[in-house]
Amino acid sequence: MAPVIRPRRLRTTPAMRRLVAETVVAPQDLILPMFVADGIDEPREISSMPGVVQHTTDSLRKAAAEAVRAGVGGLMLFGVPAAADKDAVGSGADSPDGVLNRGLRSLREDLGGSTVLMADTCLDEFTDHGHCGVLDDTGRIDNDATLDRYVSMALAQARAGAHLLGPSGMMDGQVAAIRAGLDAEGFSDTGILAYAAKYASAFYGPFREAVGSSLEGDRRTYQQDSANRVEALREVRLDLGEGADIVMVKPAMSYLDILRDVAEIADVPVAAYQISGEYSMITAAAERGWIDRDAAILESLTSIKRAGASMILTYWATEVAGWLG
Ligand code: PBG
Repeated sequence: MAPVIRPRRLRTTPAMRRLVAETVVAPQDLILPMFVADGIDEPREISSMPGVVQHTTDSLRKAAAEAVRAGVGGLMLFGVPAAADKDAVGSGADSPDGVLNRGLRSLREDLGGSTVLMADTCLDEFTDHGHCGVLDDTGRIDNDATLDRYVSMALAQARAGAHLLGPSGMMDGQVAAIRAGLDAEGFSDTGILAYAAKYASAFYGPFREAVGSSLEGDRRTYQQDSANRVEALREVRLDLGEGADIVMVKPAMSYLDILRDVAEIADVPVAAYQISGEYSMITAAAERGWIDRDAAILESLTSIKRAGASMILTYWATEVAGWLG
């Protein structure tokens, strides 16, 4: 009789499992998304994301320094303007005095080159209608007019000190337009982390609270349909051709197949965004005692890396970097 073949031999002890682990999550793989808000004196809890806050400039600086000390790979900053400062074209996005640009300047001043500072390059937090672009007379998204706004926003963010810009609005041609705009103004070293395959997802729900979104309706004319896989590769190829330095898939957990496909064709680093709903689901189940929180967090991050991401945006970045560091 042939002997039993025993793969279990390599699972016998923690040391053995560590030795043969094919995927390792490291602190530098993790990017912390952060929210900085105008018009608050204290950090404000986001009720649908327990443990995540909208920061004041002061608390932002402290939390950013803490994240960098813990060893995270970078920070991704989102701005939350006061409702009264929103308008149809998102003027707060490219104003040097807008909340996001002020936040970037203070972090760049504090942290210099000790981390990679990233900015969300999208209008939705700044428009009164909550869409990622500007609207035409009939209320539809005007793709090419939006590109002009993105270029202006990108330049303001580059001037404020961002190292990487993250266009997340899924407008056609956004990477090419931003690249050309940056180069023309001498920002050839400012990179683009392109949200290349971004899906219209119900799991963004808690984020809309996090940024005080004004959106009514949905983003289905610009974000991708969850039914589509080939389309993601088309989007990624376009962004690579337009000069993306890093491409991202978003959300992560329900799109691990897409992440694998993208990792196979991309010749640049691939990022994934473990989004608000992914955070909130694990947090809520753990609060009820239904799952082991820390183990679930690590398993989720390991699976995202295993699927093909070399870096992961996660609201747990600081905490997990601390565990792993
Ligand atoms: C749009 C943007 C969104 C997220 C990041 N950038 C929301 C959306 O597309 O509605 C979602 C992040 C998350 O859910 O954690 N600027």
